[in-house]
Amino acid sequence: MSEKLWAGRFREKTDRGVEAFTSSIQYDRRLYAWDIEGSIAHCRMLAGTGVIKEEEADRMAAGLTRIKGEIRDGNFEFTDRLEDIHMHIESRLQELIGDTAARLHTGRSRNDQVALDIRMYLRDAVHHIITRLQSLRSVLVELSRAHLDVVMPGYTHTQRAQPVLFSHHLMAYYEMFTRDQDRFNDSLKRINVMPLGAAALAGTTYPIDPEDVAARLDFPRIAGNSIDAVSDRDFIIEFLADASLCMVHMSRFSEELILWSTSEFNFIELSDAFTTGSSIMPQKKNPDIPELVRGKAGRVFGDLMALLTLMKGLPLSYNRDMQEDKTALFNSVDIVSACLDIYIGMLPAMRVNQDRMRAATTTGYLNATDLADYLVSKGIPFRKAHAITGRAVAAALKQNKELHELSLAALQAFSPLIESDVYRFLEVDSMVNRRLSPGGTALENVKNAIRTAEKRLRKT
Ligand code: ARG
Repeated sequence: MSEKLWAGRFREKTDRGVEAFTSSIQYDRRLYAWDIEGSIAHCRMLAGTGVIKEEEADRMAAGLTRIKGEIRDGNFEFTDRLEDIHMHIESRLQELIGDTAARLHTGRSRNDQVALDIRMYLRDAVHHIITRLQSLRSVLVELSRAHLDVVMPGYTHTQRAQPVLFSHHLMAYYEMFTRDQDRFNDSLKRINVMPLGAAALAGTTYPIDPEDVAARLDFPRIAGNSIDAVSDRDFIIEFLADASLCMVHMSRFSEELILWSTSEFNFIELSDAFTTGSSIMPQKKNPDIPELVRGKAGRVFGDLMALLTLMKGLPLSYNRDMQEDKTALFNSVDIVSACLDIYIGMLPAMRVNQDRMRAATTTGYLNATDLADYLVSKGIPFRKAHAITGRAVAAALKQNKELHELSLAALQAFSPLIESDVYRFLEVDSMVNRRLSPGGTALENVKNAIRTAEKRLRKT
């Protein structure tokens, strides 16, 4: 490999330790394909405006394409001596096409080049994550449809509260992941800005045409300010914030799957293919996947904090600190993609123990609110009805019975307005299906929500 591309003003050789310390090639090599695509667009534009010859651009493009193949096929030598992926590619191009390569960097700096590379990488990553979210939402809707009328206890404070449909509970996650997908989609507007032309920070004296580069690379717009173009990492922070929220949702879901898999709950059973055993306790089947998803959420939040902290004190414009943006970004892209992928596979394979779920709705006074509602339907004001029901619950507790297990006479002791129709009123399905308020858990509502979701999923 040849001499450093910035060696001109230096008289001493770089210390070996410095090379290793400043090098980013171990991780930014991942940007090679976008770097090459960006360079090809750049040299074509330079030829278009007459800064270089058409024939020179052809040689550059051919050389760059060849390098792309070399890296892809593992036939490329990486070394700490060349700092980063940009230096590696340019240096190899010099080996391949000689001095013509030296014209490639005309009107460009690594500062705007790296900004371009990350934007191109990230928009592809976001598109990928969006397709994964779309699949996860489809899986949730299919699961909801398949378990449409399964009832389960709904919880507040992790205490049984009121019966809900399991499908309604799942559709709550559908809503969260829909918001996540919308957020990623929206962020593309801000990622999709072409920064090349900013050069080091001030723009360039060459007659360049950033709109042409933008068109070649499919960017709808170009950066409006060269200083901002090389300094801005908002779009990474925004991505990490969106990724963090997505991981919050994944992690809450994971926590529920873990709880539901315990023998105490026994609401679901994850498939053998998506669980692991214990090396010491032969009976164990552990929910390692949701546990790891829950754990990995913390690493994504860490990446968000890392980037916020990285950027908060930086004077304009480019600072080398910003090289540290990549490990955090790559890490989070990998984590979010992997977590979504594994859930898309794991969820359809889980077994839903609907008898256990239903049984759990019949103990714990989940129909107390409904007894109060019953009294309201007979003309008693809600506050009073609440107090009467409270006394009924206390009495039932003492007898170790549920409300619906009390005799009609016993119930009438709390209010003479109670009649035998109360038992039907307190049944799980009738409780669920009365909750017809918009977004409530009634079967009719959930059916509609699923239908709407299916339509939306088909459209996008
Ligand atoms: N490897 C650097 C980064 O990731 C590329 C830009 C370097 N620019 C510079 N002036 N040293 O930020």
